[in-house]
Amino acid sequence: MKILFASSEVHPLIKTGGLADVSGALPRALKNQRHDVRLVLPAYQSVTQQLPGVKTLALIQPPGCTVPVQLHETRLPDSRLRVWLVDIPEYFDRPGNPYLGPDGQDWPDNAQRFHAFARSVVELALDRAGLDWQPDLVHCNDWQTGLVPALLSLEPKRPATVFTIHNLAYQGLFAWETFRDLGLPGHWWSLHALEFHNQFSFIKGGLVFADWITTVSPTYAEEIRTPAFGCGLEGLLQIRADRLRGILNGADYRIWNPNQDPHLPHPYNGRSLAGKAANKAALQREFDLPEQAQIPLLAHIGRLVAQKGIDLLLDCLPQVLAGEAQLVLLGSGEPELEARLQALQAEHPDKIGLRLGYDEALAHRIEAGADMFVMPSRFEPCGLNQLYSLRYGTLPVVRRTGGLADTVIDADATARAAGTATGFVFNEATPAALAEALRRALHLYPQTQAWKQLVQTAMRQDFSWKRSAAEYLQLYETALGGR
Ligand code: ADP
Ligand code: GLC
Repeated sequence: MKILFASSEVHPLIKTGGLADVSGALPRALKNQRHDVRLVLPAYQSVTQQLPGVKTLALIQPPGCTVPVQLHETRLPDSRLRVWLVDIPEYFDRPGNPYLGPDGQDWPDNAQRFHAFARSVVELALDRAGLDWQPDLVHCNDWQTGLVPALLSLEPKRPATVFTIHNLAYQGLFAWETFRDLGLPGHWWSLHALEFHNQFSFIKGGLVFADWITTVSPTYAEEIRTPAFGCGLEGLLQIRADRLRGILNGADYRIWNPNQDPHLPHPYNGRSLAGKAANKAALQREFDLPEQAQIPLLAHIGRLVAQKGIDLLLDCLPQVLAGEAQLVLLGSGEPELEARLQALQAEHPDKIGLRLGYDEALAHRIEAGADMFVMPSRFEPCGLNQLYSLRYGTLPVVRRTGGLADTVIDADATARAAGTATGFVFNEATPAALAEALRRALHLYPQTQAWKQLVQTAMRQDFSWKRSAAEYLQLYETALGGR
């Protein structure tokens, strides 16, 4: 099958979150099953700087696009996978984050940028860029590619389309004037197309027009059809429920494997956990925390936004840290959360280690060195860090939502007796519920044998991409068959 995979971020070329991990791993897993997969990504400045000597394939002028577009080709590092880069210097040749300017605000021309990207993807999808390759199916991801299924729906001879929701809360909403100026079909300004409460919604392009919609866990696929998680789109998703599937993300165990992780001072595996203890000591040193093996070390890594429930952690931390415990946290995001974390760290320098920023190598060292990974998310479409934590024997403490509910088995009496428990799960998004889960975890931690059993069970879990890729392929077959 020929598959064009369109995404706004791809690890290791450019990453702000889990979308990049998925876009780097799923196409590779599909290719391993002998499918012809090509990735398409904007040619951001930081991407082209990393890849000197990209090959220019074509210069195109997509209809509806005011700027000429160069198409380059490169390969994903460590892979033969072809990556096509959509080069529009005035839109993508900028330093820094793909979506935000240096002031931390959305780039003011994001609609124009991702509209032009979508128009370019459409040219590739219809083999109008002169590359002599037409995909059977285009797989789009999140709002940045939402216009692709919409634009393709206008074409009589088009590939099948799949649109994956990685996060329904990011919808790509813009003003009516923007819609008007982009010259999109006037009848799309409708509840049944791209209008959303008098705004122009990119994500609706995917949700309304794609042949199939997927999201990244079975539980989130159910949640988003309810008002609590649907972000106002639950009605539409109910209507399209027969075309909506939840397919759990995988973890890329080539990158996240504690036995072969170049970022770790001490590699380890489930049979010999001594390396994990050494990584913990190194992490305590790195964060200037007392280097004591018996003190439980909690961790969190992530975007500091309301979704992730860090305020719940902040609210219960004083209580949790009153006992014996340490916390290391790596993340960046909302200034208010950053400031609260800094203040609490200043109060408890011997208990809290904090790095505000983005640091891939440190993320690996934290996964390896910590005892527990806290993810009190309000919603979590899938979540990848709990999958990495399981593999690193760092027991996840998670809220029962989305992909967290689908991947972590609570250490209640039944699961412990059955030997299936892998972490600690709580229900309510409240500091009290999180504190209670942490209390249970901290209570079990000193029971060395019981804890070790959980760690080893966690490390044996298999969330490899092979299984997820097989599910996507089945869906692709259905999408092609149903046309
Ligand atoms: P989301 O996509 O909602 O941010 P995920 O759990 O799916 O959440 O994926 C987050 C990914 O981004 C993980 O690979 C995580 O390690 C990484 N990440 C997030 N913040 C940071 C950071 N500050 N430094 C390093 N890696 C980070
Ligand atoms: C989103 C979600 C996260 C998911 C990731 C990759 O950013 O917030 O839960 O794991 O996409 O699908």
